[in-house]
Amino acid sequence: MSRMVSFEPGAPMEEGGIPLCVPEIRGKEWEYIKHCLDTNFVSSVGPFVDRFERDTANYVGTKFGVATSTGTAALHIALLVAGVQPDQEVLVSTLTFIAPVNAIRYAGAMPVFIDAEPAYWQMDPQKMRDFVEKGCSWKNGELHNRHTHRRVRAIMPVHILGHPVDMDPILVIARKYNLVVIEDATESLGANYKGTMTGHIGDIACFSFNGNKIITTGGGGMIVTDNESWARKAKYLTTQAKDDPFEFEHDEIGYNYRLTNLQAALGCAQLEQLDDYIAAKRRIAGVYTDAFKNMTGLNPMQEADFAFSIHWLYTILVDPARFGMDSRALMNRLLLRNIQARPLWQPAHLSKAHRGAYATDCSVAERLNREAVSLPCSVGLSTTEQGRVINCIVENGKSV
Ligand SMILES: Cc1ncc(COP(=O)(O)O)c(C=O)c1O
Repeated sequence: MSRMVSFEPGAPMEEGGIPLCVPEIRGKEWEYIKHCLDTNFVSSVGPFVDRFERDTANYVGTKFGVATSTGTAALHIALLVAGVQPDQEVLVSTLTFIAPVNAIRYAGAMPVFIDAEPAYWQMDPQKMRDFVEKGCSWKNGELHNRHTHRRVRAIMPVHILGHPVDMDPILVIARKYNLVVIEDATESLGANYKGTMTGHIGDIACFSFNGNKIITTGGGGMIVTDNESWARKAKYLTTQAKDDPFEFEHDEIGYNYRLTNLQAALGCAQLEQLDDYIAAKRRIAGVYTDAFKNMTGLNPMQEADFAFSIHWLYTILVDPARFGMDSRALMNRLLLRNIQARPLWQPAHLSKAHRGAYATDCSVAERLNREAVSLPCSVGLSTTEQGRVINCIVENGKSV
């Protein structure tokens, strides 16, 4: 593969540069933050925290929402309240940003990596089922990995890039083998699967409001669930597990994973604009897909019949033999024109940090990692900016 010019995601861009995916602040953000400052509710309790939890849960359709300091913290706590214990295993997509895998390790558990399917690049339900039915044994209501002998306790599908995982076959296996389903919906707020919002398909789910997500609180996360005792436990664990808040008594080890009222104020204002943002993301994706439809060796991410994608991060695959250059060479061309582009994540089964974890055959994820290029797709991307990105790609490729 070609070598990359230096590239640091999130680094300030030169004048006239087109960033990959930046926040859009155009609603009541200032007004709500001013309210926090005027009322002195700047820290980790306050009316915007309660409202943001309620509004997010309502949007997704769950009964409860628990705000957290980050999406990673949300995943950590979701694993704990769902009962994942040290030395158990969690089936997780290998093609993902590393956070869900790290969260599994924070809980003392181990990941089992499941490959991506080639059509929509999400967790492959067929490979997941094959692992469970051929690679595990089922005895006394417990599933055990035949290779590691650890108990498999949960499945964590990650809805990457704003597109849902094909969840029905995953739920069938989960119900049959008594596995909890924890959705990492951090990249897919507003997407739906057969009409059900991501985040309300499994037993518990997590969102992130990091700066590059579809809505942002600067940094933040949310756990959503219909399970009241899990929601209560999540609130308890994220707020230092206070059993007697007056006497400061604690029966369990808790965490300071709270979202501040200031951040939640930002979140409330952003949530009010989410549907407009999704419409913008879908329009941007449509323009790219149309522009690339006659190009040889360029395959844009597809939307499945079962899906409503929010197209969080617009991504294409570059087939080097047919396009005439590989993904890294194309990214270099874009970066040299001051246009941010980036690859997808190293598949997690290849991460040295998670050496020793069991993985199914993950060859699809490895190919996707070699071929994928994510393109600028901020909600506020202008037609002129998008035209510059398209021109750069079209000039470097061939039409059919
Ligand atoms: C798939 C996935 N899971 C988890 C996270 C973690 O979220 P945060 O950065 O808010 O901790 C992110 C993004 O950052 C993500 O893309």
